[in-house]
Amino acid sequence: MHFAGQHVLCTEQFDRRSLIELFQEAEAMGAYVKSSHPDRPLEEKILATLFFEPSTRTRFSFETAMLRLGGSVISNSAMLTNSSIVKGETLSDTGQMVSRFADVIVMRHPKSGAVAELAKGSLVPVINAGDGAADHPTQGLLDLYTIHKEKGEIDGLKIGLIGDLKYSRVFHAQAKFLSNFEVTLYLISPAELKMPPEIVDFLKKRSIEIVESNSLKEVLGELDVISTSRIQEERFSDRNEFVRLRRAFVFNREVMRGAKKEAILLSPLPRVDEIDPEIDNDPRCKYFDQVSNGVAVRMALLDLLLS
Ligand code: NCD
Repeated sequence: MHFAGQHVLCTEQFDRRSLIELFQEAEAMGAYVKSSHPDRPLEEKILATLFFEPSTRTRFSFETAMLRLGGSVISNSAMLTNSSIVKGETLSDTGQMVSRFADVIVMRHPKSGAVAELAKGSLVPVINAGDGAADHPTQGLLDLYTIHKEKGEIDGLKIGLIGDLKYSRVFHAQAKFLSNFEVTLYLISPAELKMPPEIVDFLKKRSIEIVESNSLKEVLGELDVISTSRIQEERFSDRNEFVRLRRAFVFNREVMRGAKKEAILLSPLPRVDEIDPEIDNDPRCKYFDQVSNGVAVRMALLDLLLS
């Protein structure tokens, strides 16, 4: 992938080479943040963040990344209720408008494909910060960067994606990014929340070894990477089903006894039921470190897109 000037709309845009390039750049950005006399490569640039869905980490992470690179930020965190979308402006026109103000746009929306719709009207790069249940490429990037950083290498790992594989856009992004490496993927979910068949087909076409199961216990002890996430309440049409499944998998001290000593546990956060805070100090839990890695990855991405 040639980064400069590109939209970042979906995970499939990245190949192994561009992922590794991005990890190298993210490593440099981590060092840059710690250095005492940073230059300001994006001093003249403006980032616009347009959020049509709640966010704590992703929006702050992008905005922090831009500010650390010397750039500026304009932001609307309540686009659904507090923008001209309310008056009937189309996403494409909104993209056209915002790109007259900003040099890069980051957007989140509850509908799959909505970010691509806005990008059609935009004259500047648009980055998908989550579109419905479909995709969340930059979360997937920071998750893989965390694996790369913690494990040294992604090839050869046994990686479990555990929870709501149907609705979690983060699992969708992780699975597709991981298909660029030689990994074994354990897809662990309740029967109602299995990985969408088109993603399983995508993985199979890339010859990824897949183990599908609804039992965490059977496989936990084999995993090098344990990736979990909350059950996605807002995507369920039947609330009773959510209530029934919300505690399908819970990581606590007892469960972590069954995991490898050198395994790592990842989550994009927020956590609700699936991670008991009693394990926060377990050195295998990397979910807070992921947040710092996310800033470095987004700095790398913004710099590559805008340079
Ligand atoms: C994720 C999201 O928005 O998809 N959050 C995030 O970006 N860190 C995960 C989630 O909401 O469960």
